[in-house]
Amino acid sequence: MRKIHIFDTTLRDGEQSPGATLTKEQKIKIAHQLAKLGVDVIEPGFPISSPGDFEAVQTISRQIQTVEICGFARCVKADIDAAVKATADAAKRRLHLFVSSSDIHLNFQLKKTRDQVIELARSMVAYGKQFAERIEFSPMDATRSGEEFVMELVEAVIAEGATIINIPDTMGYALPEEYGGLFTKVRNQVRGGDTVEYSCHVHNDLGLAVANSIAAIQAGVSYVEVTVNGIGERAGNTSLEELVMAIETRKQTLGVETNVNIAEIYNTSRMVSRAMHFPIAFNKPIVGRNAFRHESGIHQDGLLKNRNTYEIMDPEQMGIPRNMIVLGKHSGRHAIKHRIEQFGVKLSDAQLEDVYTRFIAKADEQKIVSDGELAEMAGAGGVTA
Ligand code: KIV
Ligand code: ZN
Repeated sequence: MRKIHIFDTTLRDGEQSPGATLTKEQKIKIAHQLAKLGVDVIEPGFPISSPGDFEAVQTISRQIQTVEICGFARCVKADIDAAVKATADAAKRRLHLFVSSSDIHLNFQLKKTRDQVIELARSMVAYGKQFAERIEFSPMDATRSGEEFVMELVEAVIAEGATIINIPDTMGYALPEEYGGLFTKVRNQVRGGDTVEYSCHVHNDLGLAVANSIAAIQAGVSYVEVTVNGIGERAGNTSLEELVMAIETRKQTLGVETNVNIAEIYNTSRMVSRAMHFPIAFNKPIVGRNAFRHESGIHQDGLLKNRNTYEIMDPEQMGIPRNMIVLGKHSGRHAIKHRIEQFGVKLSDAQLEDVYTRFIAKADEQKIVSDGELAEMAGAGGVTA
């Protein structure tokens, strides 16, 4: 199986989510959890952006020696100096340099020509290369920049020593086929394109982040940039837990695997959600409250016979407590009988019918019937939940 390396940018791009700011202490705690989860690279912040972020990156570089630490910088000497200094004590490190490549960014934001951008990227990659062997380069807004220019820019930075090429879908604009195709073109057509590693970085504006990341994997990238709970600018980034579980669940088809210890997925998700005060949508894949809950009678019946009827993953393997069957008006007799038996009560068919009729009336009134309420109807004492 080919290894896909998980590059976690929760503490950098994820923190760019409006309202998601973390303290230095929270960042350090989350970074330790990410190491426990088994990610391969952590981008802990943007060292030039504030003294607090600089210190967080520095402390994480010192304390977490088993994971590669990434120093993030614009193509600006002061940024690179700060990233170099903040990551100086990391056991393994890379510098991540980026510059915009789309005409819309060049004309309205950078106010530079394409030639000037190439020159800037070339000189800053050469500057960074004095300090670090591993240099990642990202043409920001690459998927709206035109393939020819992206390739020209990438060729220029590879010639200066960039070792990892990231092609970001900054605005979440690409379609999977286009995104995968862009990596294939760059690898095959750029001089030196077969000598570097590739990383993908996708935003979720159209809900395509995981699909696009998988297309990039199929096109040969070895790093996927993700965030816990998919947090990040606007609609967020590729969600770590969704991508990892897509790989885990379909690994035979995809022919790839990750180093992630999936038993830590739920703990990590909860820790990030709590620290950022970002609730997780009930229907969020993998970590949402309803991701492994079933209400419909047909599904509940199937699950009680064999859980594979309506589940493609085992939540307990990800550290998610199993509480799958929610009792509501769509529940059938089989699920009600099963739950009552879990309370230690055996009912005759007539008694079950009576409880079932009362249960449905209550469920109609209040949507969900708690275990305590059902236990009371069935005459089982001591059930409170
Ligand atoms: O979305 C993006 O382009 C990024 C960088 C890799 C600069 O976050
Ligand atoms: Zn981004």
